[in-house]
Amino acid sequence: MRRRDISKPRGERGLFTAAPGRSFTLPSRYYVDPEISTLEQRRIFHSGWCYVGHVSDLQSSGTYLVESVAGQCVVLVRGDDGLIRCFYNVCQHRGHELLTGCGAVARAIVCPYHGWTYALDGALKHARFTDGMSDFDVADYSLRELRVSVCAGLLFVNLDVGATEFDVEFDGLESTFLGHLPDLSDFTAVHRYKFDIAANWKVVIDNFSEGYHIPVAHRKLSQVLDVEAANEAVIGGRFTCFKSRSLGGFEGFEIEPGEPYLSWTVWPNLCILSQPGSDNLIVFRITPNGPERCTERVDIYAPTAAAPDKLEALRSLFADNFNKEDISIVESVQRGLRSDGYDQGRYVAADTDAWYSESGVHRFHKQVLEALNAN
Ligand code: FES
Ligand SMILES: [Fe+2]
Repeated sequence: MRRRDISKPRGERGLFTAAPGRSFTLPSRYYVDPEISTLEQRRIFHSGWCYVGHVSDLQSSGTYLVESVAGQCVVLVRGDDGLIRCFYNVCQHRGHELLTGCGAVARAIVCPYHGWTYALDGALKHARFTDGMSDFDVADYSLRELRVSVCAGLLFVNLDVGATEFDVEFDGLESTFLGHLPDLSDFTAVHRYKFDIAANWKVVIDNFSEGYHIPVAHRKLSQVLDVEAANEAVIGGRFTCFKSRSLGGFEGFEIEPGEPYLSWTVWPNLCILSQPGSDNLIVFRITPNGPERCTERVDIYAPTAAAPDKLEALRSLFADNFNKEDISIVESVQRGLRSDGYDQGRYVAADTDAWYSESGVHRFHKQVLEALNAN
């Protein structure tokens, strides 16, 4: 009989390799080390496309939304021409923030400090008492603009002017949304949540990236999702989309068996679900907050005319059941990653197409390592 070696100190067991069924998992230090967390900010989040909301948040000209993207405060504004633009939320005079929260401005953005006034397209229109100044041209002081992309109504922003175009980076993603929810651009947010979680952001994405845990850890969800049914998968370079089927549900959430149940992961920090029983999209954005904490923002989108009882059943399944269970799971894993009794495990992925395969976790880790190691 092979005896366990109890003298071995904590340490890495082996290498992360290309074949998920043979590879060891990411070492624990990737989930606790402040230096790795700082590097992730620079190499992953600063150049990534960040989900910030939905076109319905900006319905008419002058509506705006302030958001934080990779630590930078930005504002999205719908212009007179109907276009949604994004700017750093900072006045070009002496740096006061321009807007807060969300809402609408009448015709222009007026800085609350000295009243410099910007058009909705970011151009500086008026700066008080500057007419007589030499070498001063309002044209030189427009707001600094960032790229925005709209994908089936979902809004994404990128801080990096050199980043790959959204439609190239996520080629094929939009059709997976519209194939299932053709009217997604007309949906509105019916619920929004924010959870402060005591876990590294990657633990949350890891957990979303596999169905292996569902029959064990999610009893109610297991009555809704036929987890062992064959998945139809679309695996893009930077996203995955899995289409599964529903079971009959449970009391209060009765559904037709066989309805589609979709889930997506979108690099780097977005997870999305569309549950059976009604038209809906649940979008999870996981933002790191130091190495061992993160914020999970959850937006539930539905058609404006959605039946209230169906929405309540959906909200309850999400908020009262599986999301609570998942938060408890990831916080336990984070404590475990700190333990002297663990450093690396294995991906259960001998058959990478099986419903229980953790090959999606491996794929995510491979992309994290590639981003961290890039020049
Ligand atoms: S800082 Fe905005 S007008 Fe002075
Ligand atoms: Fe889960």
